[in-house]
Amino acid sequence: MSLLKLFNCHLIVTVSLFTQAESANEYFTTRWLRCTYKSPDLSDMVYTDNYHFNKYLFIQFNSTLGKYVGFNECGMRNAEYWNNDTRILQGERGDVDRFCKHNARNYDSAVRSKAVKPNVKLSSVTRAGGRHPAVLMCSAYEFYPPHIKVSWLRDGKLMTSKVTSTMEMADGDWYYQIHSELEYSPKSGEKISCMVEHASFSKPMIYDWDPSLPESERNKIAIGASGLVLGIVLAAAGLIYYKKKSEGRILVSN
Ligand SMILES: *[C@@H]1O[C@H](CO)[C@@H](O)[C@H](O)[C@H]1NC(C)=O
Ligand SMILES: *[C@@H]1O[C@H](CO)[C@@H](O)[C@H](O)[C@H]1NC(C)=O
Repeated sequence: MSLLKLFNCHLIVTVSLFTQAESANEYFTTRWLRCTYKSPDLSDMVYTDNYHFNKYLFIQFNSTLGKYVGFNECGMRNAEYWNNDTRILQGERGDVDRFCKHNARNYDSAVRSKAVKPNVKLSSVTRAGGRHPAVLMCSAYEFYPPHIKVSWLRDGKLMTSKVTSTMEMADGDWYYQIHSELEYSPKSGEKISCMVEHASFSKPMIYDWDPSLPESERNKIAIGASGLVLGIVLAAAGLIYYKKKSEGRILVSN
């Protein structure tokens, strides 16, 4: 018996499955199979089989739970029915290896070896009309593959409010860039950081914001300091040279 026949909610399913996408008034049933993992050895693989009616997820198999869970009356009825059938459950549970790990092994080895670490920059954004609230920008450049997660931390805790992020933007040369903006009210003594998660990193990377000076000011100071060091070195060299010369002269006159 196919999964389709097991649906009890004929009204929804028949209407949606046999409707062509011709106008905005029609219904869609979509089934998404998702394989989610972080570890290169695929040991943390989670497989979910998701049934949506329009955008609403109404039933899901989740390999961590090892069974179906329904999210509305129709979903719950089917979950009860399918969870009672060991053949269906064994098939779904087996798909973690058969479907997810099998495909991930192929795709992962093809992509992971080509992963390129993002170049991450933190900067403060000056907005017209005053300085408050403060706006910081975390930009990641020149990375591959495009999938990336950029988030903000305040004293190590995830910040969710007032974060706007662009999509991963293609540079046109296989590399991507992304920009995330944080609007916040600065407090003294706090630490604001940008956290970047990407396939090229073995763990999330955290970049701390140094609020002491804006970047352009820091650059000016760095140039000034280099000039000062160079000046001191030249002056010292000159002094040593002068001393050696004058000592030599004294020796000769003696
Ligand atoms: C699968 O179930 C586990 C345990 O309840 C949960 O932590 C995880 O978020 C679920 N995965 C998805 C994709 O829903
Ligand atoms: C579950 O299976 C048992 C035994 O096969 C059956 O008696 C019962 O009616 C089933 N329940 C559902 C909800 O299909």
